[in-house]
Amino acid sequence: MMRQFVSVFIVTFILANAFFAAKAATVYETLESLKYTEYLDMVKAAGMDSQFNDSSVTWTVFAANNTGVNATLAPKHLVVSNITSNATESKDIIEYTLYNHTLLSDDIKTGTTILTAVNGMNLTVVKNTTGIFVNGIMVVTPNITADKSVIYEMDSLLIPPDIKL
Ligand SMILES: *[C@@H]1O[C@H](CO)[C@@H](O)[C@H](O)[C@H]1NC(C)=O
Ligand SMILES: *[C@@H]1O[C@H](CO)[C@@H](O)[C@H](O)[C@H]1NC(C)=O
Ligand SMILES: *[C@@H]1O[C@H](CO)[C@@H](O)[C@H](O)[C@H]1NC(C)=O
Ligand SMILES: *[C@@H]1O[C@H](CO)[C@@H](O)[C@H](O)[C@H]1NC(C)=O
Ligand SMILES: *[C@@H]1O[C@H](CO)[C@@H](O)[C@H](O)[C@H]1NC(C)=O
Ligand SMILES: *[C@@H]1O[C@H](CO)[C@@H](O)[C@H](O)[C@H]1NC(C)=O
Ligand SMILES: *[C@@H]1O[C@H](CO)[C@@H](O)[C@H](O)[C@H]1NC(C)=O
Ligand SMILES: *[C@@H]1O[C@H](CO)[C@@H](O)[C@H](O)[C@H]1NC(C)=O
Ligand SMILES: *[C@@H]1O[C@H](CO)[C@@H](O)[C@H](O)[C@H]1NC(C)=O
Repeated sequence: MMRQFVSVFIVTFILANAFFAAKAATVYETLESLKYTEYLDMVKAAGMDSQFNDSSVTWTVFAANNTGVNATLAPKHLVVSNITSNATESKDIIEYTLYNHTLLSDDIKTGTTILTAVNGMNLTVVKNTTGIFVNGIMVVTPNITADKSVIYEMDSLLIPPDIKL
């Protein structure tokens, strides 16, 4: 009797875990749990939060962590609110960090690859024995999967060539 109870409990436990494992986190939720709050502030200012929280998107996201955003803005005497106060600028910056196909690090060829970002401008990706670089900015952590998308943690914020900070 006790044994039967224990096995029912175990089966229930396994099924519950399988259920929760199947509901993967969206790009938005993953960036939130990684505490990329400044990048997410720009996503919200761009009005792109629902797209970032859509489990069907198939993106490669080159997202700077908070240290990286600050390190990019500080030499220009700016903080993230100087970007988020301008929705157009926020959207251009965020769309420049997105490529509309999922690239795991193994999908990136050694050498130079040009990717056209969602804002229509090119990103130059270099993969070599040191690591992966986008416009010369180092990838800190590749391959962070979020639903059908993949996030690359970046050392600095990618700034589109049409924006002068
Ligand atoms: C993201 O979507 C989930 C449901 O999939 C919802 O619970 C959550 O509140 C949403 N978050 C945002 C920031 O929209
Ligand atoms: C980034 O700069 C903001 C000020 O804009 C500061 O509040 C925050 O602590 C800094 N974050 C990091 C990780 O350096
Ligand atoms: C961001 O990445 C840099 C480079 O690896 C790291 O030194 C820093 O601690 C990270 N910052 C945060 C807030 O995760
Ligand atoms: C950036 O924001 C600060 C306040 O957060 C403001 O004092 C400063 O003038 C702004 N800089 C620019 C260039 O807008
Ligand atoms: C917002 O940013 C865009 C793109 O950088 C710029 O053309 C525009 O002048 C900015 N608007 C304001 C009010 O600063
Ligand atoms: C992005 O990729 C998806 C899936 O491949 C496709 O359905 C969609 O049309 C693409 N969007 C743009 C703006 O290219
Ligand atoms: C972007 O890259 C493509 C393919 O390499 C190239 O044909 C195009 O001229 C580039 N566009 C710009 C604006 O550099
Ligand atoms: C790899 O590429 C980066 C970015 O272009 C460069 O800084 C680095 O020196 C390269 N490493 C090697 C081993 O060539
Ligand atoms: C990235 O993911 C691919 C596929 O899952 C895996 O083969 C590769 O080793 C991963 N690379 C890194 C650097 O984690």
